[in-house]
Amino acid sequence: MAIVNLRDIYKAELSEEHFDKLARLIMNETGIKMPPVKRVMVQSRLKKRLRELNMSSFDDYVKYAFSEEGFQTEVVHIFDVISTNKTDFFREPVHFSFLRDIILPEFSLGNNGKALKVWSAACSSGEEAVTTAMVINEFLNETHNFDYAIHGTDISTHILRMASNGVYSEDRVKPAVPEILLRKYFMKSKDPARKTYRVVPELRQKIKYSRLNFMDDGYNMPEKYDLIFCRNVLIYFDRPTQESVVSKLCHYLKPGGYIIHGHSESFIGMQLPLKAIRPTIFQMV
Ligand SMILES: C[S@@+](CC[C@H](N)C(=O)[O-])C[C@H]1O[C@@H](n2cnc3c(N)ncnc32)[C@H](O)[C@@H]1O
Repeated sequence: MAIVNLRDIYKAELSEEHFDKLARLIMNETGIKMPPVKRVMVQSRLKKRLRELNMSSFDDYVKYAFSEEGFQTEVVHIFDVISTNKTDFFREPVHFSFLRDIILPEFSLGNNGKALKVWSAACSSGEEAVTTAMVINEFLNETHNFDYAIHGTDISTHILRMASNGVYSEDRVKPAVPEILLRKYFMKSKDPARKTYRVVPELRQKIKYSRLNFMDDGYNMPEKYDLIFCRNVLIYFDRPTQESVVSKLCHYLKPGGYIIHGHSESFIGMQLPLKAIRPTIFQMV
């Protein structure tokens, strides 16, 4: 088979018609709104996929993506391409102060020997889950009286692979993680050229990751949680989708459990079995 000329891929354009078709698929399958201004972004990000498939036009690509053969694989690639995975260690730090100062002391008093269960929903590359593990571990260094487990889920398989590796570049770790925690919970790569840090096994073994699409009917999670993070993902959905997602998350919250959303999101006007505790922080009634 002839190898497609890279110049043809460079010149390939995603027509409005093809973009609309992909945007409808994305909206139906992920709930993410794709306004027309995103066309150029999708076009440029999908070019890598054209190269991998040895295709020179979006005409061929869209045909393939909607064919019986291509649909399953391409849906996953399209999600990986369009999802915004921006995250950070200690992002929105007030949530981690609340965990340290309120949730953990409360749990420490009334856990009846049970482990604390945390769900980092839409966890991206795992920084939220790792931050949570560091905060809990620091607390347990003093109290030692319960175990914990964290489950991270995301729609993007590509980002979940990164999360599972637990390897982060220096420029992501160093500015965000206090020096004392950096030395305790990260191992610097032995190869100085790589400038990466890996989360220590002690924390990695407390976190498991799996794929979950918020658009699925039921989430089929294995258990209920004491704390659910659902931060900086609802903003991509329309209001009815947001409410449906949060209602489904509430099924997995233990009585008295907490759910936290991002500062640019809101539960106002939603019918939920929750009471507001602080801005962005809610508790199951
Ligand atoms: C901006 S990141 C937020 C990461 C983290 N929660 C934080 O606040 O830093 C949004 C994440 O939501 C995920 N996402 C988008 N649509 C989703 C869906 N339908 N189901 C599950 N995850 C989704 C994306 O893949 C992305 O990793």
